[in-house]
Amino acid sequence: MNESTFPGTEHVMGHLQDRHSAPEPAQPISTPPSSPPRPVTPPRGLPDNYAEMPKPTAKLTAEDLAPVNDPNGPRHKIGPTGRPQPDLPVPQPPTKTGPAQVIAMCNQKGGVGKTTTTINLGAAIAETGRKVLLIDFDPQGSASIGLGVQPHDLELSVYNLLMQRDITPDEVIQPTRVENLDLMPANIDLSAAEVQLVQEVAREYTLQRVLDPIIPLYDVILIDCAPSLGLLTVNALTASNGIVVPLECEFFALRGLAMLTDTIAKVQDRLNPKLEIVGILGTMFDGRTTHAREVLDRVVQAFDERVFHTVIRRTVKFPETTVVGEPITTYAPSSQAATQYRDLAKEVLARCPAG
Ligand SMILES: Nc1ncnc2c1ncn2[C@@H]1O[C@H](COP(=O)(O)OP(=O)(O)O)[C@@H](O)[C@H]1O
Ligand SMILES: [Mg+2]
Repeated sequence: MNESTFPGTEHVMGHLQDRHSAPEPAQPISTPPSSPPRPVTPPRGLPDNYAEMPKPTAKLTAEDLAPVNDPNGPRHKIGPTGRPQPDLPVPQPPTKTGPAQVIAMCNQKGGVGKTTTTINLGAAIAETGRKVLLIDFDPQGSASIGLGVQPHDLELSVYNLLMQRDITPDEVIQPTRVENLDLMPANIDLSAAEVQLVQEVAREYTLQRVLDPIIPLYDVILIDCAPSLGLLTVNALTASNGIVVPLECEFFALRGLAMLTDTIAKVQDRLNPKLEIVGILGTMFDGRTTHAREVLDRVVQAFDERVFHTVIRRTVKFPETTVVGEPITTYAPSSQAATQYRDLAKEVLARCPAG
């Protein structure tokens, strides 16, 4: 077919033909003396001014010999949040049980790692010898499923405790396969509580009333909140001393955070003055992308010391643990993911001293 049959394409075809039929004259190989010298590109990974940097000497200086993990040392390791990584004390086994610190995992955004953090932080704290209770406070029952409990098979759940005064916590709480780790499971019934609680007197204090008698029996109680800022979440915040906010390290992570901090401020003001943000946790961090590091930088700019030094990296191990119904600390005890949750446990325990 002849190209010229397509009207409007003549100039393109003409150009292509020109390129083929009339090649440009060859360029001279040597650069003309007037052109500026080509900048030297530093080898990959080195700073632009590497040429002016002092050359390494064979003798080691005091700085070279300083321990890498000394927080005051000059070569102290910079962590994924861009700040020096402190050495966290290894939690010692407790000498007595309770009263429990109650900590809510809260972010009204779904899929940010609330449930994963509740299960794995809980299991990592239980490993230190502390008695831990996980409260599934999401009608989807993901924390229950993640610990191998089928929500639709439950006869009694946290819903019954909230709505029926004659049910006691020991009728609902179940042990898990992990030592020192108990579960107060939930299922879809809980979604009805959100509506039914509206009629109750002191409706925001309902969960606190349920938890009061079991506070002396545990060292740490973690509440897995639903992805909303409704009455259930307000109940969780009213019953807690602390909040951990998991944030997925992605572009929209900070969106909606103002609404969350506003809700926290209102609960502190009107319902629970002892509520504090224990920390902001970066989750699903992918250190290979500059994007994830930028997001984390912005979170540190906004929340400074409240951001945990520990960051949870993205790994397929977490979806796998849901399938097997156990925490990462028992499913893959020596994995990086298990280590990260143990580090988080150290940070949380250091920030919330017992008692
Ligand atoms: N660090 C991680 N790396 C990879 N996947 C993760 C990680 N943390 C959580 N996930 C997965 O992301 C999904 C959402 O996590 P989840 O903890 O259920 O969030 P939320 O409770 O906030 O909705 C789940 O499928 C979970 O297995
Ligand atoms: Mg969840």
